[in-house]
Amino acid sequence: MPHKEDMTTIGFIGSGKVGSTLARLAVDTGHDVVLSNSRGPQTLRDLVAQLGPRARAAAVSEAARDADIAVVTIPLKAYAQVPAGPLRGKVVIDTINYNPDRDGRIHAIDAGHTTAGGLLQAHLRESYVVKAFNNIFFEHLATLGRPAGAPDRSALAIAGDDAAAKTTVAALIDALGYDAYDAGALAESRRFAAGTPAHRAYLDPVGMFAAPGRPVSAADLADLLGAAP
Ligand SMILES: NC(=O)c1ccc[n+]([C@@H]2O[C@H](COP(=O)([O-])OP(=O)(O)OC[C@H]3O[C@@H](n4cnc5c(N)ncnc54)[C@H](OP(=O)(O)O)[C@@H]3O)[C@@H](O)[C@H]2O)c1
Repeated sequence: MPHKEDMTTIGFIGSGKVGSTLARLAVDTGHDVVLSNSRGPQTLRDLVAQLGPRARAAAVSEAARDADIAVVTIPLKAYAQVPAGPLRGKVVIDTINYNPDRDGRIHAIDAGHTTAGGLLQAHLRESYVVKAFNNIFFEHLATLGRPAGAPDRSALAIAGDDAAAKTTVAALIDALGYDAYDAGALAESRRFAAGTPAHRAYLDPVGMFAAPGRPVSAADLADLLGAAP
């Protein structure tokens, strides 16, 4: 797929804790955002007002259609409802974690045959799915971003099967205040799935979610990714 440096509109399928946090970071760094959720754009009025003139809300299919880069940030159980047609040929960032209590048991993941990202990629066959942002708590994502070169800048893992798509996502992550660390093919996203050491990396071991996030360097992240089975 072509690598497009000049993409500016980020379309969100899902505008909850993670979607709204990423939308805030995107707006603050000069991107336009189109937000969507399951209940319809009228329920996103307050969020759009908070985000300002670079933000608007739309139906899911419209957010997908208007996206230069799409972000799918919904519960895994809803992944098959993501519209494939308007996302054809596009980079799709997938933040989804598999949570059996919420999503139900999915044998193919439990058995190690696929990952949450693998399911989404199989559904969006003609899109370029890149796993990202799934292993950082949304409040820490909001606060750990730093300018390029800052000594306490954190790295975020990405995984995907298309190199150009990963280059595009890495550039976006850099703009949002993080270094991107390429963990490999989409299947390698299991190394930073829920329950892995890399999924706890940004959490203070004592304060956990209540405490401020901990910066994680690329070298530390590489060690943690290597520690996963
Ligand atoms: N919370 C975190 O810190 C965190 C961090 C990393 C990754 N994650 C993962 O990222 C995903 C999103 O998490 P979240 O915490 O942001 O969840 P959330 O706050 O519950 O938000 C979920 C969003 O998905 C929307 N949605 C649900 N079904 C949909 C559908 N069929 N079509 C379009 N939109 C739909 C919801 O819309 P409605 O409200 O209208 O239903 C809502 O906007 C999850 O897979 C989660 O495991 C979460």
